[in-house]
Amino acid sequence: MKVAFLLGTRPEIIKMAPMIRICQREKIPFRILHTGQHYDVMMSATFFKELGLPSIIQNLHTKSGTHGRMTAQMMGGIERALKKDRSDIVLVQGDTDTTVAGALASVKLHIPVGHVEAGLRSYDRRLPEEYNRIICDHIADYLFAPTKLAKENLHQEGIGRNSILFPQGERRQEIFVTGNTAIDVLKQWREKADNSRMRQRIGLQSTEYFLMTVHREENVDRRENLLGMIRGIENVAKFFRVPIVFPMHPRTMRKLKEYKLLAKAARIRELRIIEPVGFLDFFALEANASLVLTDSGGVQEEACYLRVPCVVLRERTDRPESVQAGAAMLAGCDSETILKSAQVMLQKPRHWKNPFGDGKAGERIMEILTSHFCLL
Ligand code: UD1
Ligand code: UDP
Repeated sequence: MKVAFLLGTRPEIIKMAPMIRICQREKIPFRILHTGQHYDVMMSATFFKELGLPSIIQNLHTKSGTHGRMTAQMMGGIERALKKDRSDIVLVQGDTDTTVAGALASVKLHIPVGHVEAGLRSYDRRLPEEYNRIICDHIADYLFAPTKLAKENLHQEGIGRNSILFPQGERRQEIFVTGNTAIDVLKQWREKADNSRMRQRIGLQSTEYFLMTVHREENVDRRENLLGMIRGIENVAKFFRVPIVFPMHPRTMRKLKEYKLLAKAARIRELRIIEPVGFLDFFALEANASLVLTDSGGVQEEACYLRVPCVVLRERTDRPESVQAGAAMLAGCDSETILKSAQVMLQKPRHWKNPFGDGKAGERIMEILTSHFCLL
């Protein structure tokens, strides 16, 4: 069995790491195809180094651009790479343009696809990610749903119900509830993250601080939403008077400059805008924060596991499990709602249950794949 890991963005590298490490340990033949969607050192290479992943990867060097151009360029590159060196299974993760390009290119070459983090839905078709995950879930052979709710979402769309004639024979798409591999990574790297000196490096004197990340297209590519969030943070800063650490995604930095809002953000005395940080430093910042404000999917999951209350800077979430658990609250981009949500979340006792798994998702996924491919 030869596995191809198809990835291209920061969260895909992090969430694929557990399976890649199992392949390394168990000597399962594998290759890594990187579309190059994320290319800055602090958005890509640093995670390979920190998470002990091999440096031998095939990078397709996709150029940043519109969804259509990027997806098409990636599909062409993936197709060429897979034709040259065929794999038995392609694993894709999440809901990015890389994910959908990888899944589409592979199935058309009749290579089975496993979708890690299948079945997430925001039921908001304004988001590019929603289309990406719907397409992937409908064409993948193996669906690794992180939670029961994700599995139900798939069932509701009829996935896994009917027998389908695949190139390898007639069968159903298979769904497995595995947990989210994000939790595996947190469990595996906790000790190392404890050694991070990040807080000292950025001069955080107080042990009380908030952590913020924002990058979603629907948030940062619209001036009014970006402005709403800045005003919200200003409110939070004035009310709580604690440092707010903001490792800024390159997309957000570009948009703040384009909309001439960077100076406004920089005037908030409590706000510490820094470059994106590596995984271990981010983990340490996250684990010790009093509150997280984010529109990131992965950060919502991690905060929930780490028992750090979370204000979600979105109107809907594809991770409703953390809201249901009491770990998060939806605030959107409205400045008043952001402050109120922060006030409510900080009052909450932090004893919610983590719905995202036990940290063995990667093991389950690799066990399923190994046993299936031996049977074939
Ligand atoms: C992508 C995913 C999003 C995911 C996020 C994780 C899609 C549609 N979106 O969004 O689902 O949550 O990654 O972070 O696939 N840029 C750099 N350096 C980099 C990467 C990006 O400067 O290393 C800048 C470029 O100006 C680029 C912009 O960020 O145009 C957006 O990058 P892109 O990969 O298109 O989308 P993300 O916002 O990163
Ligand atoms: N992360 C990181 N450094 C940062 C910000 C985030 O290592 O400066 C990690 C974070 O711990 C999580 C992942 O990146 O594992 C989330 O990625 P992102 O928010 O870009 O994407 P999303 O999860 O929203 O798709």
